[in-house]
Amino acid sequence: MAKDWVGIGQEIAIAFAKNGCKKLFLADIGEPGLEKTKSLVQEISPDAKVILHKTDVSSDPSVQDMVNQCIQGFGRIDFACNNAGIAMSNVPSVEVSMETFDKVHNVNLKGVSSARSHGLFELGTLGAG
Ligand SMILES: NC(=O)c1ccc[n+]([C@@H]2O[C@H](COP(=O)([O-])OP(=O)(O)OC[C@H]3O[C@@H](n4cnc5c(N)ncnc54)[C@H](O)[C@@H]3O)[C@@H](O)[C@H]2O)c1
Repeated sequence: MAKDWVGIGQEIAIAFAKNGCKKLFLADIGEPGLEKTKSLVQEISPDAKVILHKTDVSSDPSVQDMVNQCIQGFGRIDFACNNAGIAMSNVPSVEVSMETFDKVHNVNLKGVSSARSHGLFELGTLGAG
């Protein structure tokens, strides 16, 4: 079950807001965490435009949709932080099922690779990165 808070991603969003970023596109599989992060960003920067998007980074079409929505909302991508991740359960590796192994690697590895390829394509195309 998705938590109602986020860790590294939330801190990254707050750091961008504190450093003057006025346009933030926040994506996560868990919508309560996104809403919480948006409210924290807007406490720091009330005039920031924050777009939220429910995304499953383990799904390539979902990542493509995320990039499309970001371009539609802001016209360009200047920075991308691919920090969504899940941890393997705290058990000996011999006890980890292949289903769990695939799930973790689809988020942590495939997710980063998928976001990077779609995101960098947009960065390159628009000459912003
Ligand atoms: N925080 C740390 O000190 C630390 C240290 C070492 C490694 N890590 C690793 O870094 C990663 C992120 O850590 P964190 O502390 O930010 O964790 P976190 O659980 O606070 O945040 C991870 C976020 O990823 C989201 N997420 C999970 N699956 C997703 C999916 N399929 N699509 C989109 N979003 C998804 C979750 O909803 C959550 O908001 C994890 O893999 C963690 O194991 C964290």
